[in-house]
Parts: sequence; C-alpha cells; structure tokens
Amino acid sequence: MSVKIGNIDLGDFPLLLAPMEDVSDPPFRFVCKQNGADMMYTEFISSEGLIRDAAKSRQKLDVFEYERPIGIQIFGSDIEHMREATEIATKAKPDLIDINYGCPVKNVACRGAGASLLQDIDKMVAMTAAVVKATHLPVTVKTRLGWDDNTKNVYEVAERLQDVGIKALTIHGRTRSQMYKGVADWTLIREIKRNPRIQIPIFGNGDVDSPEKAANWRLEYEVDGIMIGRAAIGYPWIFREIKHFFETGTFLDGPTINERVDVCTTHLKKSIEWKGSKTGIFEMRRHYANYFKGIPNFKEYRMKLVSLERVEDIEDVLYEIRNKFDTVAV
Ligand SMILES: Cc1cc2nc3c(=O)[nH]c(=O)nc-3n(C[C@H](O)[C@H](O)[C@H](O)COP(=O)(O)O)c2cc1C
Repeated sequence: MSVKIGNIDLGDFPLLLAPMEDVSDPPFRFVCKQNGADMMYTEFISSEGLIRDAAKSRQKLDVFEYERPIGIQIFGSDIEHMREATEIATKAKPDLIDINYGCPVKNVACRGAGASLLQDIDKMVAMTAAVVKATHLPVTVKTRLGWDDNTKNVYEVAERLQDVGIKALTIHGRTRSQMYKGVADWTLIREIKRNPRIQIPIFGNGDVDSPEKAANWRLEYEVDGIMIGRAAIGYPWIFREIKHFFETGTFLDGPTINERVDVCTTHLKKSIEWKGSKTGIFEMRRHYANYFKGIPNFKEYRMKLVSLERVEDIEDVLYEIRNKFDTVAV
C-alpha cells in the first residue's frame, strides 16, 4: 500500500533524505535524487532569519522542480514568528512544510527551539497548530524520543500533534541529551506505530547505514519508511542499494570509480551553479573524502582536491583519479 502525506503519494516504502544543515543543499539533493531518494528536505531554516529576510535563510528556500516531493524545514521558538515563517516558506512552493523539534545543538535547543520544545509539549502543540493553520500545504514534524532518558514523551507527542493536523512524523531514535552518541533505539517508534490512534505515516530515523539494516529494521519496527542522513553523505548510492535489496534480496555492487568520479563531478558542478564559483568550490571540499572513502593511498589526491581553487584544476585531478584507480575494488 502506498504511503501518503496529504495528497503526496510516496510509493510503497519511501526512503527519505534527512534534513542536514550545511549538507542537504540543492547540489547534494540533486545527487541523492538521482540515486533514488523518494522524498527530501531542505536544511533547517530559522524562522527569525526568514522574517529578518536574512540572505542565508532566504537562499535555503530554493527548491527545484526535479526535487519534488520536497519539504522545507523550519525551526523557531516563537509561535507568531513560526506562523509568519510558514507563510514565507509556503510562497517558495515546496510540497510540504516540516517543523524541526529535534535539533539538539545549544544555540538552537537552548534558545527554546528545536528539541527544547520536547520540554514543553503544550507549546509544541500550539506552535504546530499555528503552522498547520498558516499554510495550505501538508505539515510534517521531525523530532526525537524525548529530552532525556527520564522524559521519553514522543508517544504523547505523536498523538497530540496528529490531533492538531500534522500529516506525518519522523522520529530519530535518540533523546536530546544523547545528541548523536550511543545507538539509536527504535523500540518506542514501534510502540507509536502500534498505537491504534495513530493514522499518519511514521518514519524511523537514526543509524541506518546499510541495506541489511534497513531491511531488518523495516520488519522489526514496522515503520512506514526510513529517513537516512549521515550514511548518504558522500554515498548517495545508499538509496538505490537499499531499494535493490528490498526488491531482490541481493546486494547491488558498490559504485565503480567512474561512478564515484561522475557523481562527485556533478555535485561540484551543481555547487558552482548554485553558489557561484568561489563558494561552490570551497564548500565542496568537505565532500571529497567521503566520495572516495576506502580507496588506498588516496591522501595525495584529497590534499589536491581540497586546496585547488580553479574548477579546471579540480577536474584534472578527478580525471587522474579515474585513470589511476579504475581497477581498484572498494
Ligand atoms: C551534519 C548534520 C546536520 C544536521 N542538520 C539537521 C537539520 O538541519 N534538521 C534536522 O531535523 N536534523 C538535522 N540533523 C539530524 C539528521 O537529520 C538525522 O536526524 C540524524 O543525523 C540521524 O540520522 P542518521 O543516523 O541517518 O544520520 C543533522 C545531522 C547532521 C549529521
């Protein structure tokens, strides 16, 4: 049966690309979409930034036709500002609006936004209701299990947010105080799925990094789809590999060097197209090590890739990599 968010049909068991600040921008989303991501989100966008018309926040609103379905994710601590930000984000014409109630980092959570709303569910519910009212688009939420080990309240959160109209919920199987440490625990996510009151799709998130894990956790935790973050960084093939495993029960071969170079080059070109040459080249530097992970004696090339400033020179190095490593199995 197809999973639906409002009228958006996501197919049988969608794989979602997680919102990731400084990572899931349009160039990265392009290569993830090419490799099978069914639904994607922007990086989180500050409601305050949107209202102030800050350039950085505005730029994050860019969404492209080929990315659909795509959600714009917003966060904030003030209900009225979140309402206004929802109206601004709606004008950018995404397919849905997502609210971040999961971000654990200090300058978000300690300013009353992100995961800190898990400490004040009444406010979270009022904020969500205001966002739902401010847009004609479906609204979804991404959150964590709770604030800490003693307050894992996501079961109640799921019911109450569904009651005020959200159309899907993604749960990262960690608490705020865990940050990114330890292992994600999806047990509570399964309890929510089994709650007969819950009708909306529930997506599991946290630590999925292989086709077997995706298949095992799909079965074990009964979720409607899986959201993947870190495992896709420098490895957008994770989506197609998981899909292949679901469909056939066999492992797809990993990408060849040619494919790695091709996708990395596409990512670089899209970065330059979207951010301009200087920023595009600079921000691409954080991705090279991931694209070529596992290749022996790669350091010399990585050093070149992260220091060169002209796209022609970077392309020459990528060409060298293609020739030098085309027989290496990784
Ligand atoms: C670099 C980075 C940036 C992130 N930025 C966001 C964000 O903007 N919004 C959000 O909801 N979660 C953000 N997250 C959390 C991820 O969406 C995801 O919940 C988390 O990484 C766990 O999933 P994973 O184990 O598949 O990576 C970020 C995570 C990372 C590693």
